[in-house]
Amino acid sequence: MECAGKPAHSKMEPQSKMLLKPLQFRNVTIDFPVVLAPMAGYTDAAFRSVCKEHGAGACWTEVTSAEGIRRDSQKTFQFLKVSELDHPIAGHIFGKSVEAMVEAAQYIEKLGCFDWIDLNCGCPVRKAVRRGAGAALMKEPEQIGEIVRAVKAAVALPVSVKTRIGFSPAFPDHLAIAKIVEDAGADMISVHARYACDFHKGDADWEKLREIKQTLNIPVIGNGGLDTPEDAPAMLKATGVDGVMIGRGAVGNPWIFEQCRAALAGEPAAVPTLAERREVIETHLLHLVEMTASTAVGRRRKAQYDPEQGACMHFRPHLAQYLKGLRGRRELLQQLNEMKTVETIMAAVDKVLEKNMECGGLPPLSCAELAPRVAEASLGKQSAGKSAQSKTIKPPQSIEYGIQPLEKIMEEHGLKNHDLVAASKEGLTHKQVQKGRKGRRLTRNIQDKIAKALSLSTGETYTPSRLFDYN
Ligand SMILES: Cc1cc2nc3c(=O)[nH]c(=O)nc-3n(C[C@H](O)[C@H](O)[C@H](O)COP(=O)(O)O)c2cc1C
Repeated sequence: MECAGKPAHSKMEPQSKMLLKPLQFRNVTIDFPVVLAPMAGYTDAAFRSVCKEHGAGACWTEVTSAEGIRRDSQKTFQFLKVSELDHPIAGHIFGKSVEAMVEAAQYIEKLGCFDWIDLNCGCPVRKAVRRGAGAALMKEPEQIGEIVRAVKAAVALPVSVKTRIGFSPAFPDHLAIAKIVEDAGADMISVHARYACDFHKGDADWEKLREIKQTLNIPVIGNGGLDTPEDAPAMLKATGVDGVMIGRGAVGNPWIFEQCRAALAGEPAAVPTLAERREVIETHLLHLVEMTASTAVGRRRKAQYDPEQGACMHFRPHLAQYLKGLRGRRELLQQLNEMKTVETIMAAVDKVLEKNMECGGLPPLSCAELAPRVAEASLGKQSAGKSAQSKTIKPPQSIEYGIQPLEKIMEEHGLKNHDLVAASKEGLTHKQVQKGRKGRRLTRNIQDKIAKALSLSTGETYTPSRLFDYN
């Protein structure tokens, strides 16, 4: 996505790692300030822990209604479930009334499991805006100031605000809002560089982020338009913000945080192998079953509620993203409604992975790695009310076909997946690379291109005769 002030990527300079220092506000330190954005319906404890395992520097809860906390709503409290892995984590609340926000902040502080409190002033959803909460607060930013001041006075935890560059160009601008937030005493601000009226579409305006950073003294986290790992150093360079926040780019790709770390060090980002994808899908789904089982306790009709089924339904949008770009994805998604157990989902996932091993092609890359992992993988059923059981998944048949020639070459030469990805940048089509992976004869021209791509990406000299013994 193009962004105002977003420069075209140049080759990363190694000193780009200097762009990112630990972010500190009051007693909170975010060692690696590439953080996971709050996303209602997505960033529950299960997904957060997967992102944290893959390098996310900090997390926010899903947005939680201050009025819901006040009304003692069980549904609201499930958003405040935190795992040990989540830290540092913000309890992220929305509301319009100063009293409700203060009570909610005090409740969150008493829970004792949050590192700071974050006030949502950017949610454009009608339900929030109609009540004068979320993004509507940006129309009258003095109300944001009042809420920040009152919450700060009521709790000892640090307080931050998540906002946008404005409601629309017709309302108070990004600098007016940011200044009110700072003057009211907020300890940190994160800014989504789009207007609320644009929801999540259109260009992110990084230039406005730069202006906010230049105006404020408190730490600023920039958000919006971070679609690739290279966007993290690009945003830091273009805006000078203290940290970056990734939302949709992490759904189906929790590896993006590690990839950003690599990009910041001027190194190529590793593409997850099929085996890694499988492992994360399974771990995420099992975390979700566990989480759903623990939150099911407060449900009104808990006797009829099957947490495993609930988790499988909740996992659907994540699965669709995890399998993006793989063959067989569409067929799986068409049958997703019928998949109500971890076992059926993982069996369907294995089928997709198997298909992609047979087909070769990018991004499925490592049969050699997948074989032992799939063989060892076991499904733990952790749903409430069911005894723990596990089942060993047999390796898909195609694994027994043996290692494909191009993978053998990669293995012999210690080449990594991203080296092969570089081949596609050399003008090789997926089809041509697939041919290589399937062990078919490659034309001299394609051999040359693969050799050139591998030489460029590893710094070593590869000739077709060194790589392809059927020359
Ligand atoms: C499905 C979805 C749910 C979201 N929920 C929240 C939320 O609860 N609180 C919030 O402040 N922002 C929310 N956002 C906005 C994100 O935090 C983020 O600002 C936005 O997606 C832009 O970042 P991105 O371009 O990296 O996705 C949500 C966005 C999406 C797509």
